[in-house]
Amino acid sequence: MSASLHPVSPGCGVEVRGVELARLSNSDLSLIRDAFHEHGVIFLRDQTFTKDDHLAFARRWGEIVINEHFPELADTPEIAVVIKEADQKTNIGGGWHADHSYDPAPALGSILVARDVPECGGDTMFAHLARAFDTLSDGLKANLRSLRALHSSRQIYGPGGAYEGTDLKQVLKADGALSDAMHPVVIRHPETGREVLYVNPAHTIRFEGWTREESLPLLNHLYAHATKPDFTCRHRWTPGCVAMWDNRSTWHHALNDYQGQRREMHRITIAGTALDAA
Ligand code: OGA
Ligand code: MN
Repeated sequence: MSASLHPVSPGCGVEVRGVELARLSNSDLSLIRDAFHEHGVIFLRDQTFTKDDHLAFARRWGEIVINEHFPELADTPEIAVVIKEADQKTNIGGGWHADHSYDPAPALGSILVARDVPECGGDTMFAHLARAFDTLSDGLKANLRSLRALHSSRQIYGPGGAYEGTDLKQVLKADGALSDAMHPVVIRHPETGREVLYVNPAHTIRFEGWTREESLPLLNHLYAHATKPDFTCRHRWTPGCVAMWDNRSTWHHALNDYQGQRREMHRITIAGTALDAA
């Protein structure tokens, strides 16, 4: 069977068909890499993908990063378990974010495998931040290129953060290190060379030299722009579906609309590099 590409929406995401990830040729890896860079997130359905296949595929992209907060698969700390039990209310990733933007060298991307999914619900939304940046006015783009922004994991994982007092808190590692980092607001994508808007609602605190109150109106304007249907797609999971997203050029949002049902996903995070201004 030969590989073929099927965009999920004109703005974001592509489904790759005719590829078995567990037996991936170098030429199909190169096709997947190009699709990943152009569309921001790739989806492959009906994969027979053991945890060893998951680890081997991840290592073809780079080093694996162990998440500070997520529970780990028994005996395999490289695989984070993104789980919500049927009686649990709060999910992981239930708001727009880019993984690990609070790290000085944010993760290149994440590879998520659906192990147990609700019959309906639990979709994930994705947004393409290079396309979102391209469609801002020239005046706003020029201003944004001169800014940097502070990111932190504290808003979500820290004391008083979003997960405090929720039933997700006890699922997360108790002693995960918190992290802060300053990044350019417009980065030059390390692989594609494209300009990308690099702030996100979950982890960006404020612009450098601005207060949080001063930063929020502009941040909220950018967030509303980036989440327009033009730059987003909605992905429906099926068991054995694998998604890999580019963490520098996309955001994602795990919808929490399946109360009373169980969902279990396995994630490997790939190390990235420090990000340069455009
Ligand atoms: C993640 C995450 C999305 C999902 O694993 O980083 O945000 O749909 N998960 O589970
Ligand atoms: Mn995430």
